Amino acid sequence: MCGIVGYIGKNKDIRIGLEALRRLEYRGYDSAGAAWYNPEKREIFYIKKTGRIDNLEKAILESNLNLIGNPFVMHVRWATHGGVTDYNAHPHFDCQKEFFVVHNGIIENWAELKEKLVKEGHKFISECDTEVIAHLIEKYFQGNLEEAVRKTLKEIRGTYGMAIISKKDPQKLVVARLSSPLLLGIGQDETLVASDPSAVITHTRQVINLDDNEIAVITPTNFHILKEKPIITIEWTPEEAQKGGYPHFMLKEIMEEPEAIENAIRGRLMIEEGSVKLGGLDVIAEKLREINRLILIACGTASYAAKVGEYMLEEYAGIPCEVDIGSEFRYRKPIVDEKTVAIFISQSGETADTLAALREMKKKKVLTLGITNVVGSTQARETDAGVYTRSGPEIAVASTKAFLGQLATLALFTVYLGRQKEMALVMGKRIVSELAKLPELAKGVLKSASEIEKIAEKYKDFKNFWFIGRKYNLPIALEGALKLKELSYLHAEGIGGGELKHGHLALIDENFPTVAICPSDSVYEKMVSNIQEIKARNGPVIVIATEGNEEIKDLADDVIYIPKTLEMLTPILATVPLHLFAYYVAAKLGCDIDKPRNLAKSVTVE
Ligand code: F6R
Repeated sequence: MCGIVGYIGKNKDIRIGLEALRRLEYRGYDSAGAAWYNPEKREIFYIKKTGRIDNLEKAILESNLNLIGNPFVMHVRWATHGGVTDYNAHPHFDCQKEFFVVHNGIIENWAELKEKLVKEGHKFISECDTEVIAHLIEKYFQGNLEEAVRKTLKEIRGTYGMAIISKKDPQKLVVARLSSPLLLGIGQDETLVASDPSAVITHTRQVINLDDNEIAVITPTNFHILKEKPIITIEWTPEEAQKGGYPHFMLKEIMEEPEAIENAIRGRLMIEEGSVKLGGLDVIAEKLREINRLILIACGTASYAAKVGEYMLEEYAGIPCEVDIGSEFRYRKPIVDEKTVAIFISQSGETADTLAALREMKKKKVLTLGITNVVGSTQARETDAGVYTRSGPEIAVASTKAFLGQLATLALFTVYLGRQKEMALVMGKRIVSELAKLPELAKGVLKSASEIEKIAEKYKDFKNFWFIGRKYNLPIALEGALKLKELSYLHAEGIGGGELKHGHLALIDENFPTVAICPSDSVYEKMVSNIQEIKARNGPVIVIATEGNEEIKDLADDVIYIPKTLEMLTPILATVPLHLFAYYVAAKLGCDIDKPRNLAKSVTVE
């Protein structure tokens, strides 16, 4: 989604801002802009351009404007209000071009505010909701920027992370947050602000996450927030945020899937006790003993992890589970009680729909638990307790390794709860020992990458795909289909194998291939019947099967093998080839893999 960068301090060249802005490119955007206060001219210069940051940089360099700028604000925009135009790009400014604002989020009452401001004589030049902020600040400014911002925030309704500079109060960068992430990167005589830690890590790892309703006033040598906040250290290295020699972040991230599993389980398995340690749950350990129902809430890929979690938790922890997507759950009237726990799963920890559901559950006094990748994210801070997936930075827009981290964490959580309930020691030991083997097994699957690439070549020109699976691997069919459609823009649908005969078979012919996730598990025979139904109608079939299953070759057009593991853990291994398949098809079609069209990394708007 949109990204913010701001700066004030010793370095005076605005190009450091462009470099920081580039680190937000992965989030997906359609335009970019910059505004900087030039102390010599005592003016704010600005340039806004649709398209890539390269366009913005080119325009800045060709403009002959003085590149000394301190403070400055920059932004990448993903359009919500108003089309993709230079005017609608941020920063936005007031009538006199004295106040410049970059903003993530949505101002819900912008139309009524705009109408009022227009009546008062303000002239608007964009269709973007953010522009009202600049005009309100202009209206309220009486010599002190933070005071004007404070008054402005009282008028607006909606969500925001914002950064503001003004030539009327030029020694300040003022930032504010409500439901849209914003952090300060504290350097030596310099402070960067950003909506995402990736933007600041080449400058500093010392950051302060702003909380909702906080305003920070930053000067070249100091900063002031309304309340005291701890400085925390970002654990990611800048190198981790690079492509590591791969042509795309996504391929790098798929190749890191064994590591993501390893990181999720490291130090958490207690093999002898047949149990797991999850330190983040210590504070609610007693309460968890009492629970009798789980609600798992997430969006997109993370919701498929939740669905796998439902199967695991019901089968092995014996707790009734319900899965819902954040965008639906927030509008339901869920029936909950003091023995219900709501689990929120999110890579970014900033997904607006998931956070809205979380806040709804908190209002109802439900115990909330987060499975999150980004340390210090809103979800991590607002849940009562949680477990980090520790998957490392995920830069490609489409989630891959973080999904594996979520699945592994849900398996851990299943053992954690199961052992408190009915799960026998022997079963606990079995799951934990199998979990320990998974990173190596996943590395084995990656060795088939070139085979999978050949299969991708064979199928890349088909326009429609089914993905089928049953039980634990039904959600994996959904994930395989989502990944293929978002990366390659081909039509793909995931369904339960048993559903085929209820309508979907009508589409099967020689031009409609199916990817069938068919490990040797409790529903293997049923899946084989489904594959037969497809073959009887001349549909090509690629099967994901368990190593050693030779008979499946008679039925399938192509087979990709995964190693044997416990049934509940098969989704973890079956996902790896599906991610590779989607990647290679998209690569062969020349798609923009790391930043698919129309998509954004963290969806911070409803
Ligand atoms: C798909 C994908 C999305 C995200 C979804 C939730 O590849 O990445 O479906 O899974 O937007 O995002 P998080 O996990 O950040 O809450």
